[in-house]
Amino acid sequence: MSYKNKTVWITGASSGIGEALTLNLAEQGAHLIISSRRSESLEKLAERCEKAASILIVPLDLEDEQSVQNAADEVLEKIKELHYVFHNGGISQRSLTHETSLDIDHKLMQVNYFGAISLTKRILPVFLNQGFGHFVVTSTISGVFGFPLRSAYSASKHALHGYFDSLRAEHVKNNIDVTIVCPGRIKTNISLNAIGADGKATGVMDDAQNNGMSADLCAKKMLKAVEKKKKEIYIGGKEILMVYFKRFIPSLYYKLAATVKPD
Ligand SMILES: NC(=O)c1ccc[n+]([C@@H]2O[C@H](COP(=O)([O-])OP(=O)(O)OC[C@H]3O[C@@H](n4cnc5c(N)ncnc54)[C@H](OP(=O)(O)O)[C@@H]3O)[C@@H](O)[C@H]2O)c1
Repeated sequence: MSYKNKTVWITGASSGIGEALTLNLAEQGAHLIISSRRSESLEKLAERCEKAASILIVPLDLEDEQSVQNAADEVLEKIKELHYVFHNGGISQRSLTHETSLDIDHKLMQVNYFGAISLTKRILPVFLNQGFGHFVVTSTISGVFGFPLRSAYSASKHALHGYFDSLRAEHVKNNIDVTIVCPGRIKTNISLNAIGADGKATGVMDDAQNNGMSADLCAKKMLKAVEKKKKEIYIGGKEILMVYFKRFIPSLYYKLAATVKPD
């Protein structure tokens, strides 16, 4: 029960992995701050968190930096200390590189990268001042290798690795921890909400997603890894092998990435 009475802020809490993290942390008696755009979904989720020590609903839009700053103002005014921030909110992509407009590249970077960075810039001074804090970053295995139909998504998640590896190196001496989580295929709405070349959600549940690990199991594995202060972890099924192919047998990765069914 190491999360009991700890204060945890989770973005992307309204659905999928974030929802499962929220429910698991509530079960352990954490103080929760839950954020995403859809406040009604957050309110419904809060009703299911009876065992949470407390729960604060703070809607925000990661694409809108002012909204992130307003959310941080509200949270920092209401809490005394903050132990964890789970940068989990995000959107994926299903479009070929040459069909994807620069606007879509910007949108994915804005939500997945700048949204998290903008929040981090407000929270890091708080962590430094209190002398502890832990950032948990939901990346993806496509954050460590490129994959078809996900050029901007993959780039936005690679950027998170560069940023948070640097932050960790600077601040480990200040008792600031960073865990980067790279899920493979987890059964959530991620592919339904992924944006296509037209800039709209595809509305399609990928076979791979549908057959993926449950969000609950993914959340449980994440929480264990965070407890152990792991620096980077991979969660999923056999798709995780691609991480090791890229690292140890790159020729196999190059071949598979170009031939494997990407959805
Ligand atoms: N499922 C997978 O297979 C998989 C694999 C690797 C990595 N991931 C990562 O896991 C994280 C969670 O995704 P999921 O799989 O749980 O998908 P999901 O069910 O679609 O959940 C995405 C969450 O992000 C929030 N979100 C999206 N756009 C937002 C915005 N502009 N501002 C604030 N919140 C926003 C959504 O809430 P609202 O709609 O209410 O804003 C929702 O709570 C993402 O970062 C994703 O990249 C997922």
